[in-house]
Amino acid sequence: MGVMKKHFQLALLFCLLCLELAGFCNCGGGSICREVERKALVDFKNGLKDPNGRLSSWIGLDCCSWTGVHCHNYTGHVIRLDLRRYGGNGSLEGEIRPSLLVLNHLRYLDLSENYFKYTRIPTFLGSLVSLQYLDLSSAGFIGHVPHQLGNLSRLQYLDLSYNSLDMVGSHWLTNLSSLQCLNLTGVNLSKAKNVLKLLNTLPLISEINLYACELHVPLSLGAEINFTNLRSLDLSSNDINSTMPLWLFKLSGLEYLYLRGNNIQDLIPSDIGKLTSLRVLDLSYNGVLSVGLPTTLGKLCNLSELHLSGNEYFSGDLNRLGETFSGCLKNSLEELYWSRAALSGPLPSWFGNLKSLKLLDLHYNSFYGSLLQLLLPSLQALDLSYNNFNGTIPKYLGQLLPELDTLVLSYNNIAVRADWVPPPKLKYLNMNYCKIGPRFPSWLQNLKNLSSLGMSNSNIVDALPLWFWNFSLDIGRIDLSHNEIKGKILAGSSKLTNLESLDLSHNYFEGQLPHFSSNLAYSDQPHGLFSRSNFSNTSFILPSLSELYISSNKITGSIPSSLCELNYLQVLDLSKNMIEGVVPDCWNHSLIVMDLSYNNLHGIIPASIFSTILSILHLSNNEFFGELPLSFKNCTSLKTLDLGNNKISGSIPVWLGENLQALETLELRYNMLTGTIPPQLGNLTFLHLIDVSNNHLSGAIPYSFGNFSAMKTNPGRGWSGIYDYVNNIDINMKGREFQLEGRIPSLFICIDLSNNILSGEIPEELAHLSFLQSLNLSRNQLLGQLSEKVGELRWLEVLDLSVNNLSGAIPPTMTNLTSLNHLNLPYNNFYGEIPHSGQLQVLPDPSIYFGNQGLCGFPLDKKCEITAPAQPPGLPNNEDDNNFEAIWFYLSMSLGFIFGFWAISGALILKKSWRYAYFRFVDHIYDKIYVLVVVNLKKMKRKCGLASE
Ligand SMILES: *[C@@H]1O[C@H](CO)[C@@H](O)[C@H](O)[C@H]1NC(C)=O
Ligand SMILES: *[C@@H]1O[C@H](CO)[C@@H](O)[C@H](O)[C@H]1NC(C)=O
Ligand SMILES: *[C@@H]1O[C@H](CO)[C@@H](O)[C@H](O)[C@H]1NC(C)=O
Ligand SMILES: *[C@@H]1O[C@H](CO)[C@@H](O)[C@H](O)[C@H]1NC(C)=O
Ligand SMILES: *[C@@H]1O[C@H](CO)[C@@H](O)[C@H](O)[C@H]1NC(C)=O
Repeated sequence: MGVMKKHFQLALLFCLLCLELAGFCNCGGGSICREVERKALVDFKNGLKDPNGRLSSWIGLDCCSWTGVHCHNYTGHVIRLDLRRYGGNGSLEGEIRPSLLVLNHLRYLDLSENYFKYTRIPTFLGSLVSLQYLDLSSAGFIGHVPHQLGNLSRLQYLDLSYNSLDMVGSHWLTNLSSLQCLNLTGVNLSKAKNVLKLLNTLPLISEINLYACELHVPLSLGAEINFTNLRSLDLSSNDINSTMPLWLFKLSGLEYLYLRGNNIQDLIPSDIGKLTSLRVLDLSYNGVLSVGLPTTLGKLCNLSELHLSGNEYFSGDLNRLGETFSGCLKNSLEELYWSRAALSGPLPSWFGNLKSLKLLDLHYNSFYGSLLQLLLPSLQALDLSYNNFNGTIPKYLGQLLPELDTLVLSYNNIAVRADWVPPPKLKYLNMNYCKIGPRFPSWLQNLKNLSSLGMSNSNIVDALPLWFWNFSLDIGRIDLSHNEIKGKILAGSSKLTNLESLDLSHNYFEGQLPHFSSNLAYSDQPHGLFSRSNFSNTSFILPSLSELYISSNKITGSIPSSLCELNYLQVLDLSKNMIEGVVPDCWNHSLIVMDLSYNNLHGIIPASIFSTILSILHLSNNEFFGELPLSFKNCTSLKTLDLGNNKISGSIPVWLGENLQALETLELRYNMLTGTIPPQLGNLTFLHLIDVSNNHLSGAIPYSFGNFSAMKTNPGRGWSGIYDYVNNIDINMKGREFQLEGRIPSLFICIDLSNNILSGEIPEELAHLSFLQSLNLSRNQLLGQLSEKVGELRWLEVLDLSVNNLSGAIPPTMTNLTSLNHLNLPYNNFYGEIPHSGQLQVLPDPSIYFGNQGLCGFPLDKKCEITAPAQPPGLPNNEDDNNFEAIWFYLSMSLGFIFGFWAISGALILKKSWRYAYFRFVDHIYDKIYVLVVVNLKKMKRKCGLASE
């Protein structure tokens, strides 16, 4: 009986559970999932890789409640599958299984922003005939667009943009009779014929986006232009042959026309006035406008956005455009982009007509004069940077432009008065290179909503007022660099919750760094509660800070470990201060750029700096010691490693070449490194600058140095760009110290192994580094001859082989080095005639050959009397090559002592008969020279020895 009761209870419980479940299902999806479709979805899911578990809700019976799955309210069929990745991690990868075909009521399929790792678009998608919406954009697809998609006659929306696709056959497009919106951005259409003609047959098409499709846009589409519903056409970054195709002007319903970055050269036809529905017209980055703008443009009474930037051939008179800008356009135009267009002169008066203008971008032109033409009360955003505007900014700009929230005036000659009344709604203010100082501007206090402030190079010679850290709580970016702001970085107890980037570099800030924290709790608690040894009432609560630049100030003291509390800090630049002590070992692996160079830091390099995301590390010009720590191995993203001028000892580890695969710049100069250079460095595919000069490295130069792939490719390959970080690298070039700044280091291809004790021969393989610009192997103990292949280094600008034991002739192929402008070969054993043609003729400085006893010919004063290896007559022991060399050695050693003699014999080389006379003379004076040499030999040797120390 008891057992029966228990069973009954269990059954009841089960039923209740069922009801519960069913109820839940009804609430959630409003429909019941069909089992075949559920199974199909499960199979589809099993084909996918989902490392972040985005489809973890795909369990249980009711597939209609699964993430991204939508069913029809009444029939329960799956009609919508939305698997787009909305930001963050969580790409779906893997195989798209044909089990999808079971969902034959599917109307909506979105797989965009995933990463199907260069697989092809499955042809079976063409069988999902109910599809109305298909978005496969940015999903890593490759190959041809399958023509089977032409079966999707109900398709209204098709987006295949941002993949690596191309289209060969295009006729299937005509079958997409329901298509309204097509986006093929980035699909290579160079082999697809007549794409626009085919789209012209689609009766409902209203948006066409063919941005960057390598499409040749035809000047004619045939007799009939249908496109009756076309509202938006984007043909940017294609190939339009010189004139705007006339068929465009028949698209009377067009509202958005983008023709940016084609090659349109001719003037804009006056037919443009027929496109009366236009709201946005983008003609930027062509070459149009050489004559001007047609007055009919002024008839576009709906045009609110006009893009004319980057058309650099404007030669017309801006003032004559007054008529164009006095049509009804003047009332409709809200945004005018006309930057980088070589416009010059004072602003034409017609600007004053544009009463609706909200945004005006004129940056990178040559306008000058005052800003008074621009007092358009509706303006919200104004960018006049990189012009020659001068004069003082109107005092009551704030009253005149009450709506202005973005003002960019940097790089002009504009002065700002101390009592300026700024537009009160400003959010974004950039006044770099404006004359704002010498006093710190107190008007900033009125800008309570400011989120970005740029005031670098603005002549401020003042202390930072205390209110500064609290004037705007929204502030996200502050740049006060390159001024003469004095005093301490006093923060009061500031809580700048949104501050992401703070640049105080190149000023006169002094004293210690304040206490930093990203913990809001500190400021909310009464002082004392969280008190700690280094916690004072000057603390910076910066929970969002990701970039901190304080380089080139006079900061003293040590690096506070509280910096490690800034959880999102990615760029830390404290270089060029007077910071001392050891670097705290508390970094939380958020740093991407760390620059502590040019301080007085010491100790070993703390292990916590090294992370898999660290990309740029500058610790040069400090007193760090110890060996390169093993934890460096983690730095698989490290591009710049700069430890020059420290006291790093030990050898260059083998793992450096094996683990730091991203390394581009290796700067280890002026340390105490010993041992040999590991050949594994040759594995570093991206390495283009290696400087291990001024250490105690021994052994041979590895042959594998000929493998550096980055030194075999043209450095014009652009910059890998991490923030706007100025990636400075010190190098020695042409005998002088240089600092390569900004992007330059990444364009520079250089090997500097100078001043070590390297021995052996120079590997011939170095000649494979065809884009090498600077090779410095000076002051080592290198032997052997210089390979003829040196002539293959066509980009070489600097070659320094001085003070080694190199011998043999200077290869004639060196005359091919057409970029060479600094050659240094002194103090070796080179001999023979200096090749005197090609590039070597352009380097007439004799000192670059000094101390090579056997060299002769221009630019040395010593003439070559014989053509090597023929031996000069009359010399003693002329069968003996060694002696032959010795003689030349003595002769050239004595160069300085008998300078007068060489000067007289300057013409000797020209006349054969005189040569014999000369050699008789040599024979005669031989003994005298020998005496001189013996006397001075020791002196000379000591000089060489010193140089290689
Ligand atoms: C299905 O239900 C949802 C929510 O109740 C509603 O928004 C949607 O319009 C309905 N769809 C159909 C096809 O009835
Ligand atoms: C493709 O173009 C359409 C219409 O121009 C647009 O709505 C859509 O956002 C574009 N897709 C992408 C991925 O940019
Ligand atoms: C334009 O549309 C008409 C009517 O829909 C159609 O007959 C004609 O073939 C179309 N023209 C082109 C070039 O597709
Ligand atoms: C494009 O222009 C060039 C030079 O004006 C001309 O030679 C060429 O035939 C044109 N191509 C087409 C397809 O119109
Ligand atoms: C501004 O520049 C123009 C042209 O260079 C010059 O004529 C004018 O005097 C300058 N005005 C001021 C206030 O500096």
